Amino acid sequence: MGGLPEYVHVNHRDARLFVVSLLVASGVSLQNAKTVALGLVQADLRGVESHGINRLPSYLARIRNGILDPKAEPTLTQITPVVAQVDGHNGFGFPAAHLAMKTAIEMAKTLGIGMASVKHSNHFGMSAWIVQQAVDAGMMSLVFTNSSPALPAWGGKEKLLGVSPIACGAPGGEGSIPFILDMAPSVAARGKIHKAKRRGEKIPGVWALDAEGRPTNDPDKALDGGVMLPMGGPKGSGLAIMMDVFSGVLSGSAFAGGVTGPYDMSQPGDVGHFLVAIKPDLFMSMDEFKGRMTTLYHRVVSSKKMEGVERIYFPGEIELLTEKKRLAEGIPFVQAEIDALNKEAELLKVGKIGESLRLECL
Ligand SMILES: NC(=O)c1ccc[n+]([C@@H]2O[C@H](COP(=O)([O-])OP(=O)(O)OC[C@H]3O[C@@H](n4cnc5c(N)ncnc54)[C@H](O)[C@@H]3O)[C@@H](O)[C@H]2O)c1
Repeated sequence: MGGLPEYVHVNHRDARLFVVSLLVASGVSLQNAKTVALGLVQADLRGVESHGINRLPSYLARIRNGILDPKAEPTLTQITPVVAQVDGHNGFGFPAAHLAMKTAIEMAKTLGIGMASVKHSNHFGMSAWIVQQAVDAGMMSLVFTNSSPALPAWGGKEKLLGVSPIACGAPGGEGSIPFILDMAPSVAARGKIHKAKRRGEKIPGVWALDAEGRPTNDPDKALDGGVMLPMGGPKGSGLAIMMDVFSGVLSGSAFAGGVTGPYDMSQPGDVGHFLVAIKPDLFMSMDEFKGRMTTLYHRVVSSKKMEGVERIYFPGEIELLTEKKRLAEGIPFVQAEIDALNKEAELLKVGKIGESLRLECL
């Protein structure tokens, strides 16, 4: 088999039930547990396994260490008719971001645009699930977050900036798909290095430097005192600074290297987010907007291909295709990942993955 891992396929509903049962057993409300499960399992469905349910052990460790409050409920303050502020109160980032986007969408429905800043939050996983929330409501969106130091400022060797994803989206038209761009400003997301470590795999030598500042393909060396490399040099580090200005400086949350990472058990994350929803039919009818999105989609995917390229994809298309396949076939995990998740189930005395009790509401 040439060392290729064998995969265990898990149905997305079973995966969601499992997440909910672990979180509810940890003191999280059913509603918030469902929101976390939605975001995590959507990442696994879209092939963004670096931000899927394998994140649970670190989240649960944060609860056990008393640095993430499982019972926290995000609160909302309306600042102006189009601006709201959410305080995550150091609970999960998922419900805080979900409430912020829900509020931004409501504001945009009547006033054209809605903007929400989120403070004292935690990691919200894959940004695309919040972009999808806006797409499902027929809205365009911006979804920004800051994150813990992993990247140097361009020219530096000190971990200072987060690998903070910049994400945005727009509904698609007839015969096209929604536009969903969700990208980390690093050559690769740090979660991909954690995934390689979990799976005993090497990483490409262009992703990170080791503690001595040398390129490495060893995930341990990259994670142990190394730094991630920004994509496009100063442009990538500029985008990471942009995420910190909008999500950290503006919100009142930690910034300038002050966010605590999800794998660091020493203190609360204090992550900030910045979300905007925009009504697409502000300058023309919705039909016209959608027709233009369809034109753009077809123009992009049918443009002339460079040598060696079989197909040109629209942003979010590869993930959408993966989602369709995984909805039908299940989500592939390696046994070591399943074992790590079932260990959490044992600790919390809930059913193993695939054996969780069926809940009417899911
Ligand atoms: N919450 C956090 O703090 C945090 C931090 C880092 C990363 N993340 C998440 O990690 C994930 C991974 O980020 P990434 O930058 O490694 O993603 P990626 O490089 O796999 O994809 C980035 C974007 O490029 C598009 N894309 C990829 N290949 C394409 C192709 N061949 N043609 C057209 N478009 C293509 C994708 O659709 C996506 O929108 C994201 O979902 C991000 O939200 C979260």
